[in-house]
Parts: sequence; C-alpha cells; structure tokens
Amino acid sequence: MAKPTRIAVIGGDGTGPEVAAEAVKVLEAVAKLEDFSFELTHLDWGGDRYLKTGRSLPEDGLEQLRAFDAIFLGAVGHPDVAPGVLERQLLLDVRFALDQYINLRPVKLFPGVETPLKDKGPEDIDFVVVRENTEDLYCGAGGVLKKGTPDEVATQSAIYTRKGCERCIRYAFEYCRRRDNPKGKRLTLVAKTNVLTIGHDLWWRAFQEVAREYPDVEADYNHVDACCMWIVKNPEYYDVIVTTNMFGDIITDLSGIVQGGMGVAAGGNINPEQGGVSMFEPMGGSAPKYTGQGVINPIAAINAMSMLLDRVDQPKAAARVLTAIQQVTATKMKSMSAGKMGYSTSEVGDLVCEVL
Ligand code: IPM
Ligand code: MN
Repeated sequence: MAKPTRIAVIGGDGTGPEVAAEAVKVLEAVAKLEDFSFELTHLDWGGDRYLKTGRSLPEDGLEQLRAFDAIFLGAVGHPDVAPGVLERQLLLDVRFALDQYINLRPVKLFPGVETPLKDKGPEDIDFVVVRENTEDLYCGAGGVLKKGTPDEVATQSAIYTRKGCERCIRYAFEYCRRRDNPKGKRLTLVAKTNVLTIGHDLWWRAFQEVAREYPDVEADYNHVDACCMWIVKNPEYYDVIVTTNMFGDIITDLSGIVQGGMGVAAGGNINPEQGGVSMFEPMGGSAPKYTGQGVINPIAAINAMSMLLDRVDQPKAAARVLTAIQQVTATKMKSMSAGKMGYSTSEVGDLVCEVL
C-alpha cells in the first residue's frame, strides 16, 4: 500500500474553517472513488490563537509544516488583529520558509458563473497566472529615516535575483508546454521593462534565454499596464502569464474578479521541487461578518483542493473534482455570492460530492 498523503488543514479565521470543511468533505469523497488514502492534521492556527497566545502559530510551526505533503489554508484575517500581522505569519512567512516560489492562479470562468465582462464566456476566460512568490517588494528590504517628521525618508526596494526569476520563468514554460490549450501555447511575460530598466531587464534577459529551450511555446511580452487593459478587453488572448511578485499580486485580483470573484478563485503557493511542501487556498478572505451562517461559497475552497490533489500526484482525482465543480456551477447554483447561491455552504459541498 502506498503511504497515505499527509495533509495539514489550517482552517484559519472567520469563514475559513467552514469552507475548509467542505473541501475536506470533497477530498474524502474523491479519495474513496479514486482509491487513495490520506491523513489529515487540523491546525488551529490563526487570529484566535494569536489573541490568546500572541502568536498565530506555535514557535516551531514552520518546522511542523515541513513534515506534510501539502497544506490547505482556509482564510486569514481577524477583525480584532491589526491588518498585516496574520498575513505575515501565516502567508508570507510560510511562503519564504518553505520556499514556495511559485504562486499559481488558474483563471477559468466556470460555466454558469457570471463575469463582469460583457459578452465574454467560459471559452474566452481560461488562462493561468504564474506569479513569482518570494522576491520583489515582498522581501521587506528598505528603511526609514526621521520617521514622523516632515523630513521623513522611506525606501522599500524590489529585489530580483537571477536564480529567482529564472526558476519561475522555467516553471512557467514547463507549465505552458504541458497545458492542454487548443488555442496554442503562448507564454506572456508581464513586467515593466520601459521603466524598471534594471530589475525587469534581468527578468527580460532570463526570459529570452530560457525561451530558446522551448521553441514549441510562443514567447510573448506585455507591459503590466497594458496587460490590465487586455485582461478586461481581450482575456481570450492569454494562455499563460508569468510575472513578478508585486505585479502578480495585482493582476491576479483583477483576474479573480474576471473569473467570477472570491467565491470561485483559488491559488497555490508552490514549491515545485522534489519533496517541496506547497500550500493551497481559496482567494476569498475570511469574511468575518458571515461566520457561522453557512452562507459562504465553498467552491473556491473545493477548487483549491483540486489544485492540491494535482500537486500530490492525484491528477485524476483533481480533474474529477474540477469537472464536478463545473457541473454544479452550470446546473445547480443560482449565484456565486454569499447568501445567494440557492444552497447553504454545506449543501454546495454535498452537491459536488453527489456529482462526483
Ligand atoms: C495574496 C494576498 C497576500 C499577498 C497578502 C495577504 C499578504 O493578497 O495572496 O495575493 O499580497 O501576496
Ligand atoms: Mn493578493
């Protein structure tokens, strides 16, 4: 018998545990059908723990996470904790400590899901953003002088390394090559080479060099500002986008709303190396005002679970979950918004399991 897949579940704050429970429900159902075993460890990390102990995760928390095959995170954000604290400890520190250097964000409009883009449908909105996840302005490099005075000086530097951008670019080319897209294979580098002539020149040169190893993939380039316009006007243009951490943060939120919003969008913080531990999460926040009401949409969390399954070598289970989600959005749910789905949170989880 194969060893069970070890999965850590951090429900987190607000409605996080509710949507995580539905994702776990679907995991249990698909594991039976596809005949694989897994072992869950629930970790009560988050805002409540922070308020009680001063830390959202234990002292050796990051070490603990290394023992798992994958991590599922419900949501981060507590109304009584200053913004940024939990995000730093539960998201950014984990990304850095586990070297999750890819942030993978599939942008797919599921059938039956409404997009704010006029005249665009599921055949138009189907691309993937590969965001670098460990460098750029997120390094926290910088300083302040004369703080609080009229002469205050603040700097915050974007750090890019050859190794960091190259490994991300290579991952994106590989991803694009393997992705089954009838429209062809196109990888678009999104940056700002006309202004960031130092850091993004490094990205540009690395991109050109790696591109030579992938003659089957069209190597394309967009400035980030133009990319924002195209995502709205011609999303069908994109196949795979590779971009820097900060720009990726922004365009994945834009893309998230284009694919129907927080109720459906999911992402993965991936360490693609052998034995690397990756973390998957729905994009929606903790939505504290809906906590305990059973009205929040778990589709994004179930979508994140499908991504997790893919990463732990269960591609068939992953695909099966993704197909089931699409059947539920196409034929059952009235809306993707909290409280308007026509079903409760757990009923949506049940529907996905039934369709499986
Ligand atoms: C994301 C989030 C985080 C980020 C925040 C919460 C630190 O917005 O995962 O995109 O900026 O990366
Ligand atoms: Mn973001």
